[in-house]
Amino acid sequence: MQQVYINQLSSHAGEEVTVRGWLFNTRSSGKLMFPQLRDGTGVVQCVVLKKAVAPEVWDALNHLGQESAVEVRGTVRADERAPGGFEIDVTAAEVLQRAEGYPITPKEHGTEFLMDHRHLWLRSRRQHAILLVRHTVVNAVRDFLNRDGFVLCDTPILTPAACEGTTTLFEVDYFDEKAYLSQSGQLYNEATAAAFGKVYCFGPTFRAERSKTRRHLTEFWMVEPEMAYATLEDVMSLAERFLSSIAARVLEERGEELKVLERDTSKLEAVTPPFPRLHYDEAVRILQEGHERGEVENRFEWGGDFGAPDETYISSRFDRPVMVHHYPAAVKAFYMKRDPERDELALGVDVLAPEGYGEVIGGGERATSLEFLEEQLKAHDLPREAFEWYLDLRRYGSVPHGGFGMGIERCVAWMCGIEHIRETIPFPRMLYRLRP
Ligand code: 4AD
Ligand code: MG
Repeated sequence: MQQVYINQLSSHAGEEVTVRGWLFNTRSSGKLMFPQLRDGTGVVQCVVLKKAVAPEVWDALNHLGQESAVEVRGTVRADERAPGGFEIDVTAAEVLQRAEGYPITPKEHGTEFLMDHRHLWLRSRRQHAILLVRHTVVNAVRDFLNRDGFVLCDTPILTPAACEGTTTLFEVDYFDEKAYLSQSGQLYNEATAAAFGKVYCFGPTFRAERSKTRRHLTEFWMVEPEMAYATLEDVMSLAERFLSSIAARVLEERGEELKVLERDTSKLEAVTPPFPRLHYDEAVRILQEGHERGEVENRFEWGGDFGAPDETYISSRFDRPVMVHHYPAAVKAFYMKRDPERDELALGVDVLAPEGYGEVIGGGERATSLEFLEEQLKAHDLPREAFEWYLDLRRYGSVPHGGFGMGIERCVAWMCGIEHIRETIPFPRMLYRLRP
């Protein structure tokens, strides 16, 4: 008897198959039972007629607890009314493990309860849909970059120095030294870009964020492309092609899941180039005018970094991601190149997603001058010795270059249209959440 996955049933209509899975739901009416089985690829309704199966099969399936492990055998029958279009007329079944008292029931549960049971919550329809979107986003990212000529160069997670400021570092004992979990692979990307031209790294990154927001994790996955001989303009045009290709791929592959999530897909269809580009000065003007109109609570002063409500307000003015560039250098990282015309500005860009999803991409053009970076290390109180190798990149063939980083979870939350990024990774790590 061939084992068939539920999402393959359509090519087995009329055949007798075996499906192996878990009991998702069941109802019965004396002589008929309708156990729904899920196997990871989908959910199928089975039909068990009391007189069509052996008495022990009926007894085994009757009063079976949710999430019991079951193998059923039966004939695949097309049925327009069935979710998925097919049902299984059961001829035999075997219960591999009887589960009792599955903690997640159809009644409403609080988020903390569900998060405590994340290892089980992953089996539910909505979580399943979100993580399949994540799977597609990750594949879209890799395919886009590979086809565009980027070379994957993995960067280390254990590092001797900070990339994105010293306030969010996780420290670990590295034998007799202190090391830190990587906040970003960027500095190493700059080295590999000089070796390979166009590169990317893609891996877990860590930020000891004390903030408890719907956009922050302490461990998240970041994809970071970096290009030699590239300017801020090149970085922005890569970012818009990149995000558009991800949105298109999610629409193409994840229609079912977006339906489960009740996602308004017209919002994703709008994600096509060109994206609006907004100078920081202009973004500030938008916020100040918004304040005068009573739409923005506090008056935003030039020079500050945008908070979540500011980003939401700015992006609400556009139907697709907006690229805010030329931020004040004072609110950006030490490695950013300055605007040659206005030294107080950095050649950085943040891509703000629509619908209040905030910054999904941060990047820009990197400083190329050895002297400038030496000063920056001092100004940011960074240990010169740990950055000596980085300075070598400015000693030997320093060229204009740049890139960006995209947090996978923020992108997935936006694609799915969900409130909080904690549902976009199988086991989220946040302030106050290290388990399960
Ligand atoms: O803007 P960030 O801090 O930029 C960098 O780390 C650069 N070195 C990247 C580069 O140019 N190669 O982070 C980049 C992106 C953000 O736009 C956001 O999507 C995500 O990483 N991110 C987070 N996602 C979840 N939780 C957090 N705590 C995040 N911090 C940043
Ligand atoms: Mg940023």
